[in-house]
Amino acid sequence: MSQTHFYQPKEGHGLAHDPFNAIIAPRPIGWISTKSKAGVLNLAPYSFFNALNYTPPIIGFSVVGSKKDSLVNVQETGEFCWNLVSQDLVTAMNTTSKPLAPEESEFDHAGLQTIDSEIVRVPRVKASKVSMECKLTDVVQLKSATGDTVGSWFVMGEVVGVHIDKSLIEDGVYKTLKGAPISRGGGRGDYFKVSQDNFFELLRPE
Ligand SMILES: Cc1cc2nc3c(=O)[nH]c(=O)nc-3n(C[C@H](O)[C@H](O)[C@H](O)COP(=O)(O)O)c2cc1C
Repeated sequence: MSQTHFYQPKEGHGLAHDPFNAIIAPRPIGWISTKSKAGVLNLAPYSFFNALNYTPPIIGFSVVGSKKDSLVNVQETGEFCWNLVSQDLVTAMNTTSKPLAPEESEFDHAGLQTIDSEIVRVPRVKASKVSMECKLTDVVQLKSATGDTVGSWFVMGEVVGVHIDKSLIEDGVYKTLKGAPISRGGGRGDYFKVSQDNFFELLRPE
């Protein structure tokens, strides 16, 4: 019997849970704040998220399955902010994933305070120790290998301002561990913490 579980996603994975996002894991979380044209503040977590470029710094997140409020707002205003989800903010982050009507704010729902940004008009999460102000660069609607459009959109933005709590900087170096970021696994609600035990250094070949 084969030792490999092979499947073609279009025919189903044949397991108890879809392994896809448990394999591509742990993923960093983009806790994305936006503002609607009408001025309603929005906040939602996106784990189909990553850093995409250094100079200029560009980050991106994928809005999956429908035109969610974050996407609508970014398209209306051209701005968003990324906010760090540290371990102490995990419950608040989860609360902000609840689908609310566009006129309701997840900041209020999760009892989170805002703090003004320097460059964009979208505020940040005050309790986040790091946040990045971003200007929209691209929205790409995803498509399948056969060219059929998919109801998901990849949103990219240039980072135009970075706020770091000085307690996370030691001898001029940003300490990832001190930020205590949490990352998303798969399953119904799997997450990972980072810790010194799991740290190692590996330098690239010269
Ligand atoms: C940890 C976590 C990660 C998530 N990642 C994504 C994602 O990558 N893409 C997505 O469309 N929804 C994701 N969601 C669900 C959205 O947060 C949820 O649909 C939310 O209501 C969207 O908010 P909005 O309509 O205000 O934009 C995630 C939820 C959680 C808790």
